[in-house]
Amino acid sequence: MRATANNANNIFLESAKYAGAGFAIATLVSGVMIGLLSPKERAANRWGVSAALLGLVGGGAVGLIQKRQSQSGLDNEQIKIDPQPTGKEHWKGWRNFIVAHKVKESEEIISFYLEPQDRGELSQFEPGQFLTLKLNIPGQEKPVIRTYSLSDYPIPVAYYRLSIKREPAPSGLNVMAGIVSNYLHDHIGEGSVIAVRPPSGNFVIDVHKSLPAVLISNGVGITPMISMAIACCYLNPNRPIWFVHGTRNGLSHAFRDDILALAQKHPNMHVHFAYSRPRPEDNGFYHSEGYIDSQKIKQLVAKEAEFFLCGSPSFMESLRSGLKMWGVPDNQVFYESFERVVSNSIEQPQIAATDKGIALSQIVFAESSRELTWTIDDGTLLEFAEANNIYPPFSCRSGICGTCMCKILEGEVAYQQAPTAAIEPGSALICISKPRTSKVILAL
Ligand SMILES: Cc1cc2nc3c(=O)[nH]c(=O)nc-3n(C[C@H](O)[C@H](O)[C@H](O)COP(=O)(O)OP(=O)(O)OC[C@H]3O[C@@H](n4cnc5c(N)ncnc54)[C@H](O)[C@@H]3O)c2cc1C
Ligand code: FES
Repeated sequence: MRATANNANNIFLESAKYAGAGFAIATLVSGVMIGLLSPKERAANRWGVSAALLGLVGGGAVGLIQKRQSQSGLDNEQIKIDPQPTGKEHWKGWRNFIVAHKVKESEEIISFYLEPQDRGELSQFEPGQFLTLKLNIPGQEKPVIRTYSLSDYPIPVAYYRLSIKREPAPSGLNVMAGIVSNYLHDHIGEGSVIAVRPPSGNFVIDVHKSLPAVLISNGVGITPMISMAIACCYLNPNRPIWFVHGTRNGLSHAFRDDILALAQKHPNMHVHFAYSRPRPEDNGFYHSEGYIDSQKIKQLVAKEAEFFLCGSPSFMESLRSGLKMWGVPDNQVFYESFERVVSNSIEQPQIAATDKGIALSQIVFAESSRELTWTIDDGTLLEFAEANNIYPPFSCRSGICGTCMCKILEGEVAYQQAPTAAIEPGSALICISKPRTSKVILAL
């Protein structure tokens, strides 16, 4: 069932609205009747009609205010939510969305509010999930695909919001700046149309649990955490939430006021902002100086909690090891990285990370009519395809998004790290897999 606007406050407002409208209409009718039947009572008639018109205008104003309040997930204080919101079924494949609004959130993050071009309904998503976008970018041979977390939780879902950080070229390297993020910032505006695949991803929170949820992020890793925090506040106001976020300073700090406003309305939500390089004018806007690490987390919360991590690879690796050393069980730590994590010290989960594969294999790219010899130095099947001028779609290159999923017509693959994306039977994520049999035929 979907969220419904229906709490005690609303019932009062609704009754007042109907009573006012009834009174206004009755006064209007009786004012006109008196004027017609008894011309001498003109003064009373005028008073009656004016009062009625005032009542109608006042009722209209109340209605408009209520409509505005129901627009945003963050502002919506009036809603009562059914405990298990379920959505319309997701659409299949690509669907065109229009950028309805483009909003600057910080010096490097811009939000894009997307509405379906077909004006059809939107399916509900789970807090923490992402969308996959496809863009035709001048200079790129093929459409480019990337994934972005949903950064809001509107109830009911009237739009999808993505918040995207501009990726500069890494300092000291003479390479192109991030292709999609820069294109979105510079060339996609209100009215632009983007192809979008349905919400997806397993980095989600079960809002109905009672254990405290500790949402820890740095940089643009804040995006899924906002969605999780809003969902928890509205769907289960009894679940304690810690929103812990690290950023450089006030210039790079996106959504500060939104998060503070959410915490002000919801006593179950606690906030901690850490600035690594605060400016003098940031005084009073952050809680601690420095980076977020497990020591800081220990000072804030007890370990009987669920921990959700999203941020840069080094931040995630340090937090995961710190939480492990503190004694937090693995099944209470959930994480998602937007970049490839090369981990030395943390054991990968057991599911699906298989053996190293074999040293030599014949790979058939069936749709390209090519048969090539793969050796252990050729890397993943995605890297091997690219090295041979076959360019399958990809986004995360780390088994998270599912964009590179490809049908295997013959043979088997070995995963080099545990995939987190759901894999269809008979398919493989080629960004993290190598051949496991002497011949592998891919539908590429
Ligand atoms: C599940 C998921 C959710 C995500 N959610 C978000 C989100 O909410 N917000 C967000 O902003 N991002 C998010 N991302 C990241 C996003 O998908 C993109 O990876 C990001 O926007 C960068 O894409 P790009 O095309 O701009 O950069 P790319 O073109 O992919 O380049 C990435 C970086 O590599 C550098 N580079 C280019 N060539 C080289 C080279 N030869 N050697 C070394 N470096 C090079 C570029 O300069 C750039 O810094 C998410 C990722 C995943 C997997
Ligand atoms: S590119 Fe994301 S799972 Fe392979």
